[in-house]
Amino acid sequence: RIYASLYWCWDNGNEEKRIFIDTDDVSFPQSFLWGTASASYQCEGPGDRAPTKSNWSEWEPQHIKRGQQCGIAVDHYHRYKEDIELMSTLGCNAYRFSLAWDKIEPIEGQYDQDVLGHYHDVLRELHRQSIVPMITFHHFVHPLWFEERSSFLNSTNSSAFIRFSVDMFKEFQDECHLWCTINEPEVYVSGGYFTGIFPPGRKSQPNEASLVLQNLLQAHVDIYDGIKSIARQPDQHSIGIVKDIFQFDPYHPLNPLDVYISRLLDYAMNGCILDFFRTGSFKWTMPGSTPRTFTNSRAPHTNDFIGLNYYSHFLVRFNPFKPSSFEIVHRQDDSGPSLMTDMAYPLYPEGLYRACVRLKDELPRVPIYITENGIADRCDDRRHLFLRRYLYALSRAINEAGCDVRGYFYWSLTDNFEWAEGYDMKFGLYDVNLQTQERTLRDGAKYFQQVIQKHRAKY
Ligand code: NOJ
Repeated sequence: RIYASLYWCWDNGNEEKRIFIDTDDVSFPQSFLWGTASASYQCEGPGDRAPTKSNWSEWEPQHIKRGQQCGIAVDHYHRYKEDIELMSTLGCNAYRFSLAWDKIEPIEGQYDQDVLGHYHDVLRELHRQSIVPMITFHHFVHPLWFEERSSFLNSTNSSAFIRFSVDMFKEFQDECHLWCTINEPEVYVSGGYFTGIFPPGRKSQPNEASLVLQNLLQAHVDIYDGIKSIARQPDQHSIGIVKDIFQFDPYHPLNPLDVYISRLLDYAMNGCILDFFRTGSFKWTMPGSTPRTFTNSRAPHTNDFIGLNYYSHFLVRFNPFKPSSFEIVHRQDDSGPSLMTDMAYPLYPEGLYRACVRLKDELPRVPIYITENGIADRCDDRRHLFLRRYLYALSRAINEAGCDVRGYFYWSLTDNFEWAEGYDMKFGLYDVNLQTQERTLRDGAKYFQQVIQKHRAKY
């Protein structure tokens, strides 16, 4: 119980309160789903065949830290049984994963039956272990043929992705009931069209970014409607988008310029998407870009749940000497609450609480799944603390703020390929020796196992 008493640091812009907390004081609903999340590209490897070509395979190695390549990753394509066994050992009753569109449809219009068969095997194994599957259709990666015609920059391309998603639903509808359309649309857009750290590597292109975002959001709506219109039992299936809420908060809450710039960024990354699903209308007003608005009155009816990926927040400070007029800064605070993770952001569990409450307020009556939450912690000296504090925050969001959260998926079961960061970031509950593929449970992950054992409904 070393960590039984911790600060609960509520830093909401202009107020900061610190109180002691008891991180053992948590409770979760009976029917709660406890799982881990992954994405095909980051963990599967090519399986038995030559690697398929995708936007990411072409992007490597020159754009990855130290020239790394994804390669066979953690060979999950072959080792899925072993990995599902590990999920079972942890006590998990759910698993979120994505279908590799590039493997399933390497040539436009031709589905690879062996690969479809593989995913049937995965689903069968999950059911055998009483693990509820949640499938994602788009998790940053798509076939090269789709990328070569400018992917989501061109709205006419969306039809290929919509067709693929609806076909995959048809294929797997008897084995899966939870569906995520698109993973973190705004992260895909900012990486690909602002920072340029994701393919297609465009930098500072707000007009392209807003167009891609528009096309992704439209595709979500069309997939939702497409699935519901062909499903054998539409009410049995829950479909949602996965939204990452990474707050932008002012570094100096009383400095109007910090407040202004943080609100602007927060609106472009978070607010405009939540607005679209609340009101059916999307507004993009980044300075220096053509304002974009569009409406789709179906949008507010197209999330049976919302997937929330939560990691942390950024503090932003106005800085006229930077080309973008702002910088991201981190507080140095030795008392613990603002410990950094190995990624360039701090532990910030209060933010998970805030994000849940925000979703509840902005999208009332839409249930929430925490579709991702995890820490990159190479030394494994903060994972335990991370889990305790974030799960405490989640419990409070549920029990005190009344958020309808139905499940929590830790990112990720094993270490895997962290996009531009390559293999440097260790998010896994299990450490993976990349030479031998041996998986070892990290000490810091054991708390997750304990929480599940204590709180998971008994069957
Ligand atoms: C969110 C993304 O969905 C996932 O692909 C990534 O690895 C994690 N965050 C960790 O950064």
